[in-house]
Amino acid sequence: MIKAQRGTKDIFGDEVATWQWIFENAKKTFQNADFTEIKTPIFEATELFNRGVGDSTDIVNKEMYTFKVGGAEKNETSITLRPENTAGVVRSFIEHNLNRQSPPQKFWYFGPMFRYERPQAGRQRQFHQAGIELFGIKEPTADAEVIMLAVDFLNALGLNNLTVELNTLGCNKCKNEYKESIKKVLLPYLEELCDDCKMRYKKNPLRILDCKNENCQKIFEIKEIKEIILKDYVCDECREHFTELQSYLDNLNIKYTINKMLVRGLDYYNRTVFEIKSEALGSQSAVCGGGRYDGLVEMLGGTPTPAIGFAMGVERLYTLVDKVAPKKNDFFIVSNNSNEAIKLARKLRLKNKRASFDLQKRKFAKQLEKASKTAKYAIILGEDEINENYYSLKNLATGEQKAIKTFEELLNLS
Ligand code: HAM
Repeated sequence: MIKAQRGTKDIFGDEVATWQWIFENAKKTFQNADFTEIKTPIFEATELFNRGVGDSTDIVNKEMYTFKVGGAEKNETSITLRPENTAGVVRSFIEHNLNRQSPPQKFWYFGPMFRYERPQAGRQRQFHQAGIELFGIKEPTADAEVIMLAVDFLNALGLNNLTVELNTLGCNKCKNEYKESIKKVLLPYLEELCDDCKMRYKKNPLRILDCKNENCQKIFEIKEIKEIILKDYVCDECREHFTELQSYLDNLNIKYTINKMLVRGLDYYNRTVFEIKSEALGSQSAVCGGGRYDGLVEMLGGTPTPAIGFAMGVERLYTLVDKVAPKKNDFFIVSNNSNEAIKLARKLRLKNKRASFDLQKRKFAKQLEKASKTAKYAIILGEDEINENYYSLKNLATGEQKAIKTFEELLNLS
C-alpha cells in the first residue's frame, strides 16, 4: 500500500470543520484590519530563499525541498518548495510594483509550507501557515498593529493563555557592533562550539544565540559571555522605537516578556522580533513567529521599504483549539419522503444553512441516530407533518421536541 510521506498528513472528517473555522477567523481578523489576501506560488526560484531567508539558517542549509527542472538543454533551473512565505510575498510586492499604492500595503495569507525537518509532535515536513505582512511603515505603530492582530486572532480562537516574547535586534549599525562583541568573546571557545555554530560564527554570529545544543548552551552561561549576550547594545533610535512599541502594547493591555535571547531562525530580521508560545505544545512551543525586516525589499531588488509581519503554524493552532471549534451541521432532515426531504434541504441551503438528509431511505431510528451524530437539530417530516404543513423540530443536545409552523422560524433557530 502506498502511504502518505513522513511528516505529511491527510486532513478530513471532523478535522476539516476546525480547519475551516481557523481559516474563517484568520480571514475575518485580518480583513477587518484592511489586509487583503495574497496567494503566491508554492514553488519559487531557489535563489529567492538562499538570499531572502539567508544562507546561515537551518532552513536554507538543511531543510529545503530543492530540485532541478528543465534539463540541461532547456535552461535548467533550480526551484524550491516554499519553506516560508515572507520571501515570496516580498518577491511579488517588488515584481508587481505594489509599493505604488500608498502605504501601508497590507497582505494576509494561509497555505502550505515545506521544510525537510525531523518530524515530531508539532513539527511536520508539510505544514500550514496563516500570516500577515505589512509594508511601508517604519514607525512602531505598525509593530503594535501587527502584534495586536496576532493576539486578537489567537483570542478569537479562544486561546488566551499564551506568552508573547519580545526582543529588539537593533538596526544594522548597532547589530554589527553587537555581532563583533559576540565574535570577540566567543573566539577562545570557537573549537568547542557545534558545527552549525562554527558556520554561524562566520556568516551570522547573532544566530548562535538560537542554538539548542547543550554544549553551546553551557558556553553561553560562562560569566563573561553571558554579560556580553545580555548587554544593552541598541542605539538611541532603536531603543526609542522599542520603548514606544512597549507603550502601545501596555496601553492595549497586551502582556509580554522581554527575551534577550530571542533572535529568530531567519536572517532578514532587524529591530522588533517576537514569538507567541504555549506550554501546552511541549518542545515545539512557538505558535507564532514574526518581526521587522526593513532591509529585505531592497536586498531582493526593490526600493527601500520598511516591513513587518508574522506567521502562525496552523497545525499547532489546531492542537490547541480542537476542543472549542464548532463541528456540527445545523439540520438533518429525518423523513421517509425523499421528495420533501430533498426540497427542504435545498431551501435551507439556499438560505445559507447547513442541512443534510438521508440518501438511503433508512428507517426513522437510523436516520435519527445519524442526525444526532452530525447536526444540532433534526427536522422530522413524517406523514402528519407533511399533510398538516408543519415541522417537528428536535434539539439534539437537549432532546426537546416541538412543532414549528413556518420555514422562517426554522431559519431563526441557529
Ligand atoms: P517561523 O518562525 O519559521 O517564521 O515560522 C512561523 C511558525 O510556523 C512557527 O512559529 C510555527 O508555529 C510554524 N512552523 C514552522 N515550522 C514548522 C514545522 N516544521 N511544522 C509545523 N509548524 C511549523 C516564518 O516562517 C516567518 N516567515 C514569519 C514572518 C512573517 N516573519 C515576518 N513575516
